[in-house]
Amino acid sequence: MNHNDWSGVRRGPLAAGEWVRLVDAKGRKHNICLEVGKTFHTNRGGISHDDLIGRDEGFSIASTSGGEYLVFRPLLSEFVVSMPRGAAVVYPKDAAQIVAMADMFPGARVVEAGVGSGALTCSLLRAVGPDGLVSSFERREEFADIAKQNVHQFFGGVHPAWQLTVGDLAEELGRCHEPGSIDRVVLDMLAPWECVPAVADCLAPGGIVVAYVATTTQLGRITETLRAHGEFTEPLPWETLVREWHVEGLAVRPSHKMNGHTGFLVTARRMAPGNQAPVKKRRPAPGAYGVDYQGPRPVGLPPSAVDQPVDS
Ligand SMILES: C[S@@+](CC[C@H](N)C(=O)[O-])C[C@H]1O[C@@H](n2cnc3c(N)ncnc32)[C@H](O)[C@@H]1O
Repeated sequence: MNHNDWSGVRRGPLAAGEWVRLVDAKGRKHNICLEVGKTFHTNRGGISHDDLIGRDEGFSIASTSGGEYLVFRPLLSEFVVSMPRGAAVVYPKDAAQIVAMADMFPGARVVEAGVGSGALTCSLLRAVGPDGLVSSFERREEFADIAKQNVHQFFGGVHPAWQLTVGDLAEELGRCHEPGSIDRVVLDMLAPWECVPAVADCLAPGGIVVAYVATTTQLGRITETLRAHGEFTEPLPWETLVREWHVEGLAVRPSHKMNGHTGFLVTARRMAPGNQAPVKKRRPAPGAYGVDYQGPRPVGLPPSAVDQPVDS
């Protein structure tokens, strides 16, 4: 491996100490760390690690009882869904959205919380590269330890752009970073709205916040909190659905199986401090902020929008 590029990608023949992924004929996956003299035991006999070490990845090998296994180094998207987990991980389809839509770039200064198992951390570190910064916050020490192991394993060492702080983001962010010094913030936690004031302080003008949440109630609360803050642009909430296709001769159709839900995303940009985002010109939907609504309200709501019940 070229240890200096910090991409997590290894090249050249497989070596002892590296992780490889074995996939059998039924698509079952096994990640193993290569060790001289060791045997990987399958339900169809064994495979000697020595028969893998020294070969270029991308071959198939037979176990002693005739099982067929495809051998490659795991990709980042494969590593994060098979690594040890403390908390739920951001799935690759959403990590890709976060990297693209929050406009991550080499050299960016990024804050993320919580770090959980470190899945998103790997994508962020790859996007910012060794000259950027990923400052991760996690309030549970046991999760931070799992994330450390995963991230170190993926990059083959301690990534020079990574900082990990154990503690609550809302309390620690201002202590760790100067106001206006951060380009991007990613929130993946139960109550991201509690961190909005701290996030607004640390973000540079034009900086982006992106929140990843699992439920519609969380999506409503974080969106309204960003709106009510006043110094973020109109939040953009969305989700992505990925559907695989079955392509075989004349049978070309969507796959019957699909991951129906992972999470929702919402992004907004930081205005320069002291500058309010323009108030939306369009009237809110009838009852949207009526007497039944309990959450934060955007500034500049017409009085008629506040006293309507939801059904009027
Ligand atoms: C869903 S997990 C994050 C998963 C992570 N993004 C990944 O891809 O592996 C949510 C994490 O946020 C942490 N957390 C929740 N609120 C937090 C806060 N205010 N500050 C720091 N960490 C927090 C939790 O302990 C948990 O580990």
